[in-house]
Amino acid sequence: MSDTIVIFGASGDLTSRKLIPALYQLFLKGRLPEDARIVGVSRSTFSHEKWREMLAVSTENYLSTHFDAASWTDFAKRVFYHPGDIKDLDSFISLGELLSEIEAKPNVSRIYYLSTMPQLYSEAIQRLGEAGLADDKNGSRRVIIEKPFGTDTKTAQRLNESIHQVFREDQIYRIDHYLGKETVQNIFALRFANSIFEPLWNRRYVDHVQITVAEEVLVGRRGGYYDESGILRDMFQNHLLQLLMIPAMVPPAGYGAILVRDV
Ligand SMILES: NC(=O)c1ccc[n+]([C@@H]2O[C@H](COP(=O)([O-])OP(=O)(O)OC[C@H]3O[C@@H](n4cnc5c(N)ncnc54)[C@H](OP(=O)(O)O)[C@@H]3O)[C@@H](O)[C@H]2O)c1
Repeated sequence: MSDTIVIFGASGDLTSRKLIPALYQLFLKGRLPEDARIVGVSRSTFSHEKWREMLAVSTENYLSTHFDAASWTDFAKRVFYHPGDIKDLDSFISLGELLSEIEAKPNVSRIYYLSTMPQLYSEAIQRLGEAGLADDKNGSRRVIIEKPFGTDTKTAQRLNESIHQVFREDQIYRIDHYLGKETVQNIFALRFANSIFEPLWNRRYVDHVQITVAEEVLVGRRGGYYDESGILRDMFQNHLLQLLMIPAMVPPAGYGAILVRDV
């Protein structure tokens, strides 16, 4: 079994600032599967080589550790680019052809990462289905959906229904990268694995909870995104309320996704 990660929104901010540096770091640590490959998709017309060059510059810029040119060259051999429009079925058909060509194996697991505007999630998923790219007969097919997931309960439910027309629940990963941060994960240990704090962690002893967002990243090229989504939807209804959930929820029976969701 080998693995392919397809990133929709390849020319965007999240891809260059977070996703590729994170994948490169996994590669440096030997945690990226040996023959894994990364395929970027967006409308901009880059060649494979041009996209690799641009990512080398941004990764060097955003990486928190030392950038090593030799290992980047090794990593970049696994990186491919496919110009395509999410609104256009032909782009998905030609993406399928590129994937078959570079995977060169029948048994490949694929992750489709939707790192693009939320208005495009549903359409991207429908097109993946229509182009046969969600078919998991020859390896698992999973989809990662960035936040914001809808703009209110109704739109979130509608998006959920539309995703379920193509992917089963166990193929869907709704990401919130704040919840994966070590400092956030550590709240679980501090709260539940600590006999000093555990008996005091309730409304009798906790007066209030303060959450500080110490972000310094500017709007950059994301003016259009903020015009549509706004800062409240970007930060509050997902990251911050989910952070609040961790100190406030009753202890889950276990830390798997389903048990935490069910609390
Ligand atoms: N940036 C962050 O730090 C961050 C953090 C957490 C979550 N997110 C989430 O991640 C998602 C992406 O954010 P971003 O900041 O990377 O946005 P962005 O910089 O505006 O990037 C959007 C991407 O979508 C592509 N795109 C737009 N229309 C397309 C179409 N019709 N077909 C194919 N590709 C299309 C754009 O490329 P082309 O114009 O070349 O097509 C671009 O690559 C958003 O949902 C955001 O909420 C972002």
